[in-house]
Amino acid sequence: MFVTLEGPDGAGKSSQALALAERLRTAGVDVVLTREPGGTALGERVRELLLSTDAPERTPLADALLFNAARQQLVEEVIRPALAAGRWVLCDRFADSTIAYQGYGAGVDLDALRRLAAVATGGLRPDRTLLFDLPGEAGLARRAGAGSAELTRFELAERHDLRFHQRVRDGFLALAAAEPERWSVIDASADASSVTEAAWRAVEEWLQLVPRRG
Ligand code: TYD
Repeated sequence: MFVTLEGPDGAGKSSQALALAERLRTAGVDVVLTREPGGTALGERVRELLLSTDAPERTPLADALLFNAARQQLVEEVIRPALAAGRWVLCDRFADSTIAYQGYGAGVDLDALRRLAAVATGGLRPDRTLLFDLPGEAGLARRAGAGSAELTRFELAERHDLRFHQRVRDGFLALAAAEPERWSVIDASADASSVTEAAWRAVEEWLQLVPRRG
């Protein structure tokens, strides 16, 4: 199973990813947890380049190309080998983030982004995706509580731009609505442990779909 976690900033996705990986391991599933941008040496360098507060000026399409460069490396180096070995892969953000942020958020043509992602991933798509959904205001408020050292360039540049975050959120919801068999939408405004429970209920259903290994 290739499972991705998506959602706007401040939805608590990264700690939920850790919690889900832990539960899957307890349930006997061999799972690789990774993230975008990152997950490989190249990916972590791209992450620094993209998210540092002194990152160079770039167009949204240049952003999309850089995210996809990191994605291609992650797919070849980490995701495909793990899936081929029969492991689960849990990935904190994947191609849908580029559609939501650079597409719905920043206005890059959605079809161009889809073609780009298809090339970068070699057509690999997640089996299931969890959307940690949160209204734009709530995400911004949560992130505003974080020190500026923790904020990414995106959040600093966009932190006062509520409309950008609303477009990103609406983008994710549109993607989920278009492919309901792949997406499960989790209300991420609840407290962290209720969110973990809700996410786990979805994952437990998927566990029934795949043969269990002894
Ligand atoms: P990160 O610190 O990983 O944030 P989060 O914990 O919210 O995932 O930073 C990733 C940032 O990069 C986040 O603001 C979303 C953005 N992003 C894109 O704009 N496009 C993409 O394709 C990806 C993968 C991330």
